[in-house]
Amino acid sequence: MSKRRATITAVGHYVPEKVLTNLDLEKMVDTNDEWIRTRTGIRERRILEQGATSDLCVKAIERLLERRKIEASEIDLIIVATVTPDMFFPATACIVQERIGATKAWGYDLSAACSGFLYALVAGSQFIESGAYSKVLVVGADKMSSILDYTDRNTCILFGDGGAAVLLEPSEAPEFGIIDHRLYADGSGGAYLYMKGGGSLNPATHETVDKRMHYIYQDGKSVFKGAIKGMADVSLEIIERNNLTGQDIAWLVPHQANLRIIDATADRMGLDRSKVMINIDRYGNTTAATIPLCLSEWWEAGKLRRGQKIVLASFGAGYTWGAVLINWSLESPKGS
Ligand code: UT7
Repeated sequence: MSKRRATITAVGHYVPEKVLTNLDLEKMVDTNDEWIRTRTGIRERRILEQGATSDLCVKAIERLLERRKIEASEIDLIIVATVTPDMFFPATACIVQERIGATKAWGYDLSAACSGFLYALVAGSQFIESGAYSKVLVVGADKMSSILDYTDRNTCILFGDGGAAVLLEPSEAPEFGIIDHRLYADGSGGAYLYMKGGGSLNPATHETVDKRMHYIYQDGKSVFKGAIKGMADVSLEIIERNNLTGQDIAWLVPHQANLRIIDATADRMGLDRSKVMINIDRYGNTTAATIPLCLSEWWEAGKLRRGQKIVLASFGAGYTWGAVLINWSLESPKGS
């Protein structure tokens, strides 16, 4: 008997309306549009002025359910990848479960920063493959503006807010769906990208606030070096171990942290830029949301075709990194 495979049967995303441009940031910190564009590829990002990460999740899921024409009550499981949960507890997944009316679903949050969506996608697919569940929502959402120090030019220019979701269901044919994955972690990378305040190590005090410990800290250069190697290596590894080359890949869907990291990964795979999903210019780094946001936008634009082989790849805090190979099954709405 062939293996029961998980496949993506619906996508949905949401970005807030408020746009924060590089020119806006020039008025807030000592930076400039040219530096940001050439060093990162970012032109603007979105900011959620009111509300929390669960709002981003709910709006993305509502769009997804409408497209798939199913009720929330049919969902079995909700996994929310995020580093900006509404609160430490209850889990954002539980808040979302109640708000969308997913009455029979259970759920949990998953913390793997920029690799959160890939970790959650692989976790969710195991529940489908085992036969335990048939409808698993995997959401990547972050309100990064809630943990950014808008006086720190090293970090505040990089991130934005957004959310996106995919639905996993059993594939109707064994050749379609999530074919393979490679996930990694290396805790020694924790020294270079973190938020130290607010957890059990440094509970919130006046001192932690004064020391700005409730904001992201990043040693950009070290993370950059790790990302260039980690994301490119794992992307090549996943195609090689499946006896594929860059020629066989229709789309690379990279985590959107820096255009230079994306380019290095595409080069390593021997992929032309036209086969790489890039929206960092419009949204910046939305952490757990970047990859599903790309999938949803490209699907909406009619660019995803049934039978295309696509590689999702990420690198982020932890360090965490990985790649997922998919034989895409969800036909885009428009012809192309
Ligand atoms: O998604 C999670 C994983 N995160 C990543 O993958 C991010 C990885 N890192 C990066 O993308 C890059 O390291 C950054 C975009 C964060 C920084 O780019 P960089 O080329 O590594 O620049 P740098 O940090 O080495 O800074 C170069 C110069 C410095 O000035 P000096 O020391 O050369 O005089 C910085 O002070 O640029 C300066 N600088 C800025 N200038 C204008 C740093 N930030 C800014 C800024 N505007 N916003």
